[in-house]
Amino acid sequence: MTDRTHEVLVIGGGVAGLVLALEVADHRRVTLLRPASDDQGASRWAQGGIAAVLSPQDDIEAHVADTLVAGDGLCDELAVRFTVEQGPSAIEWLLSLGVPFTPDASADASYPYHLTREGGHGARRIIHADDATGRAVVETLKQHVEAHPNIGLCGDLTAIGLIADSTGFCRGARCLDADGRLHELLAEDTVLASGGASGLYRHTTSPQPASGEGMMMAAELGAELMNLEFQQFHPTCLYDPEGPAFLVSEAVRGEGGLLINTAGERFMPAVDARAELAPRDIVARAIDAEMQRTGSDHVFLDIRHLGETAIRHHFPTIHAHCASRGLDIVHQPIPVVPAAHYSCGGITTDLGGATTIPRLHAIGEVACTGLHGANRMASNSLLECLVYARSCARRLHTAETAPVAELTPALWGQQPVSLKSIEDIREAMRQLMSARVAIVRTDQGLEEAARGLAQLHDRLAPRVRDAAPSVPLANLWHALRLARLTVACARARRESRGLHFNPDCPVHGDKTPQPSRVHLQALKAM
Ligand code: SIN
Repeated sequence: MTDRTHEVLVIGGGVAGLVLALEVADHRRVTLLRPASDDQGASRWAQGGIAAVLSPQDDIEAHVADTLVAGDGLCDELAVRFTVEQGPSAIEWLLSLGVPFTPDASADASYPYHLTREGGHGARRIIHADDATGRAVVETLKQHVEAHPNIGLCGDLTAIGLIADSTGFCRGARCLDADGRLHELLAEDTVLASGGASGLYRHTTSPQPASGEGMMMAAELGAELMNLEFQQFHPTCLYDPEGPAFLVSEAVRGEGGLLINTAGERFMPAVDARAELAPRDIVARAIDAEMQRTGSDHVFLDIRHLGETAIRHHFPTIHAHCASRGLDIVHQPIPVVPAAHYSCGGITTDLGGATTIPRLHAIGEVACTGLHGANRMASNSLLECLVYARSCARRLHTAETAPVAELTPALWGQQPVSLKSIEDIREAMRQLMSARVAIVRTDQGLEEAARGLAQLHDRLAPRVRDAAPSVPLANLWHALRLARLTVACARARRESRGLHFNPDCPVHGDKTPQPSRVHLQALKAM
């Protein structure tokens, strides 16, 4: 079914998609595809906050320098500088919309809102709403989006692919409704804001993360993907095998939380002079090594010394969640384990979110702007969502109408595919990625992952060709091919850098590092 042509079609309703919709809607009509449930995606689960230079004691150069150090030599300095410089005005804009950031009423406050610290930051520069910043930002943005007459919200369609015309321009998206009917949403401009790829792994910090669907939809049109091997593991997810995924914010370490092993000993000071506040790649790797050394499946994050008043004041969400799981964090250390959290790689974009495909933009975690390099610094992700959604919106204020050439057809069959076989292949893919392509990779492990994923690909490909379209099948097909491209990038990088740590490769030297660039065609050569 093909309906009217949309002006700006936005796929994804986290912080990036909501900001873009609001910032475009005074100029052009926006159709926003966002899941009916807010629990999907990652924005809502972000706890820590948004990094920006807000205190008079901080400065732009310091935030730039910290980001470059955390990114381990691979950041694009132009993108870093652009993002950091736009930070303060982006926060002003959120404040003007009414986001309830936590105030700082203390006598020595240098800024009206409380600024916390996180790993890699040399200053207090993270503005937050208690320990539930993502939720507060999403709720506020949603209220404005719902009230805007020029934004049409669509909660009952899921995008499974993009539409191209014969000249290679993006012309909208193919979507399925809840009854499995196909809808073609033609659009003058299409924006992907559909999140990262942490769902390629078994254990993640948010309950229903994306699995790279947006990245592969863009790749199917020929878009370049970049730096896929840099998958970030957050050091401290609550260790709760029976419970839902739950992040324990890095702000807990920022406010003095200490990592201890099962014997009650601190281990970070021996690893890095910044101890618990070293960048995430270093802390996650140290926890992984400590778990191996002690044969334990978790370590502990201890904040008992902060006292009940400070714990309840700073971390009400974490306190309440842990209490609901039978854990009293005022009197007990918190069991934690690293879990897949954030994709530093994604669709290559410029400073305005343009991809290598005309009329297709990408913003937020689905994109790779060059800001994060080989390892994202804490709380730079919501900042990136905000800054690039706003710069992309400015580009889209004016429509550049061009005649539409013939559209490429969708190729689907009619055979139903059982949900059980989809689940089996997804589980096997996640097992391989978690066992072989996680915090530490080896040449042999990557080779095994490549072989195992190729076998899964061979099982799935004929079914996809013959199958009737379905959301679970389309999502798995996207995820599996992205997993293979991720392994290809990891195998090609013959150095250890940032989040890509392979003991078979030397730690990088000073030579100018190159980002990994990959296209869908790479799969044909495998
Ligand atoms: C956290 O609160 O630790 C997560 C924030 C982020 O990933 O930057």
